[in-house]
Amino acid sequence: MTQQVTQTGTLTLRLGDEGHTRALGRALAPLLGAGDVVALEGGLGAGKTTLARAILETLGAKGPIASPTFTLVQTWALAVPVWHFDLYRLKNARELAELGLEEALDTAITLIEWPGIARDLLPPSTLFVVLAGEGDARHAIITGPQRFIEKLGVLAGRGAHAS
Ligand SMILES: Nc1ncnc2c1ncn2[C@@H]1O[C@H](COP(=O)(O)OP(=O)(O)OP(=O)(O)O)[C@@H](O)[C@H]1O
Ligand SMILES: [Mg+2]
Repeated sequence: MTQQVTQTGTLTLRLGDEGHTRALGRALAPLLGAGDVVALEGGLGAGKTTLARAILETLGAKGPIASPTFTLVQTWALAVPVWHFDLYRLKNARELAELGLEEALDTAITLIEWPGIARDLLPPSTLFVVLAGEGDARHAIITGPQRFIEKLGVLAGRGAHAS
């Protein structure tokens, strides 16, 4: 049996305002390809959808980018398809199959707000972004494959601050 070992790392960025959160999304978007998963964690209003919108816009989404708060998932037919989930209102993990989570994980870039209920299905290569903060300031604790962490580390020199 072969085991794939993914080097993981953690980066903490200080996001002084919404512009910094959007810059994180713009930096992350070009690193993503089919099969990549970004799990967006943090409380209500932490900035998960703001970050997802910046990723989607950078990947070419046009027009208003609705939050999947009530639909639970929005799919975007971009160069690489993007599936944007918000699982806050999902009560039963069995409904994840109906939502198409497995298809998304196999074929698309998957962005998931409130990923807790799907945690057992997420691949080891999932990039977790935990957002927290008050007022306009947030910090993002980013954990996942080193290939993302290294590239996002350069953001620290562009206004966002790493620690
Ligand atoms: N640094 C920041 N980063 C992101 N959003 C910020 C920041 N500062 C202020 N905001 C504001 O906080 C709000 C974040 O809302 P958003 O919908 O992105 O949160 P969310 O985490 O998706 O919430 P929910 O759990 O309800 O889906 C927006 O109104 C945004 O303008
Ligand atoms: Mg949201």
